[in-house]
Amino acid sequence: MSNPKVHLRSFGCQMNKLDSNLVENAFASAGYKLTDTASEADAVLINTCSVRGGAEERVFSLLGQLKHIKESRPEIVVAVFGCMAQRLGAELLNHEAVNIVCAPAQIPQLVDMVADTLESKVGSIAVTENIRSRPQPELSERLDDFELAYDRPQERLPSQAFVRIMRGCNNFCTYCIVPYVRGPETSRPPSAIIAQIKKLAASGVKQVTLLGQTVNSYRYETGENSYGLAELLEMVSEIDGIEWIRFVTGHPKDFDEKIFRAMAKLPKVCPYLHVPAQSGSDRILKAMNRGYTSSDYISLIEKAKAIVPGIAIAGDFIVGFPGETDEDFATTVELVKKVEYKNCFVFKYSPRPGTRADEKLGDTVPAEIKKQRNIELLAVQEKISLKLNEALVGAKVKVLVEGLSKKSHLNRAENSGLPQLIARTATDRIVVFNGHIELAGRFCHVQITKVSALTLFGELLDRLTRII
Ligand code: SAH
Ligand code: SF4
Ligand code: F3S
Repeated sequence: MSNPKVHLRSFGCQMNKLDSNLVENAFASAGYKLTDTASEADAVLINTCSVRGGAEERVFSLLGQLKHIKESRPEIVVAVFGCMAQRLGAELLNHEAVNIVCAPAQIPQLVDMVADTLESKVGSIAVTENIRSRPQPELSERLDDFELAYDRPQERLPSQAFVRIMRGCNNFCTYCIVPYVRGPETSRPPSAIIAQIKKLAASGVKQVTLLGQTVNSYRYETGENSYGLAELLEMVSEIDGIEWIRFVTGHPKDFDEKIFRAMAKLPKVCPYLHVPAQSGSDRILKAMNRGYTSSDYISLIEKAKAIVPGIAIAGDFIVGFPGETDEDFATTVELVKKVEYKNCFVFKYSPRPGTRADEKLGDTVPAEIKKQRNIELLAVQEKISLKLNEALVGAKVKVLVEGLSKKSHLNRAENSGLPQLIARTATDRIVVFNGHIELAGRFCHVQITKVSALTLFGELLDRLTRII
């Protein structure tokens, strides 16, 4: 088949988006054409997430649609990769629509698997056996090579790149599936990370986001040298062309003051911290196996705020964890008020098969109560976000422009005939303003004129920024 067409769909976290980019580039390099339409594709690739039941249900509903398409075009090859592939393995291969199942650690094989199936019509599966029981250095090496070969600057977010610094997780929070689908925690060698970022910088990347499930536990030993996140931030800061550095996600129990000091000292490191608390109740935090109390968490945030001026904090919370009472939830609300997050992600507890919470604690909070707590916590956070944003009216801020705003004409009054652009501040706040589309991927300065809880609106200050 000459230049077969592939259609890629992606669910899940930044880690998955990064894998999807690598896979897309690997298929493009192998001569495949990318298409936005599943029905005209020769192969449909689906990168999947298992973190909550809802994420898996969305994939099953897509597979239902593909089953329908396959009734008229049975030759389409459907490959499911990512976290659901590792979790469900052969069970997924039994689904009528599925031909290939490929786990996250096996993505370097995906191009060959699809090519073989397009030719032979025989399906295949590649997952990691006993993912938690032995170190898998050969898999890490293969993934590193794959990463270096197919890493490209983002097309959708010009001048930005995401760089994995570690894989897997060893924390076993009792609700979480990630350690079972992404395997043991391994940190990539600093030399590989730095080489990759230098290459990205040379191709025009200005902002890198270092990725990992718990980036602050990054640790790499070579002979007498030991590197943690603070050392890595120093090294990335020295790379010419890189202007902003971010990292996500941090775990509250592993923060070393050195990291905050590095953030304060290194001007390229954005004053932004995504550090999920999950709950404000010590009883629930213990049942979650998070390894800290709410007062440990508050002291950590106070330390971060004291050391890093203007730092913005983002958080994640789970509502309706088994056994969560109204009193437990009230302590979560108190924590959110105390921390004054820039924004919070709130998730309803979703039992994940094979996790300790699911096996030992069940799913005791009714769906209606989870929903109410979710709405209430978001409403509390919205007030805080609005208050913090209101303090920014009139401020002049530096932003990195992402591209055209999807919701257009939100501030029609200031519309100057130029399209609306969306940009982000160093503290990860969204700014919408009118400007030339060629500003996408560039830094500029904007004065904030009005705000909502989620968005700042402004006017471009660098009118002299010539677009040529
Ligand atoms: N490694 C990151 C988070 C990975 S999952 C960290 O530890 O911070 C992203 C978020 O999904 C988590 O922070 C948590 O809030 C949520 N989450 C994970 N498992 C969940 C589950 N079973 N039900 C509901 N939310 C969950
Ligand atoms: Fe999951 Fe906890 Fe690991 Fe985050 S730290 S990925 S929540 S087990
Ligand atoms: Fe989902 Fe896997 Fe990420 S379970 S959150 S895609 S690591």
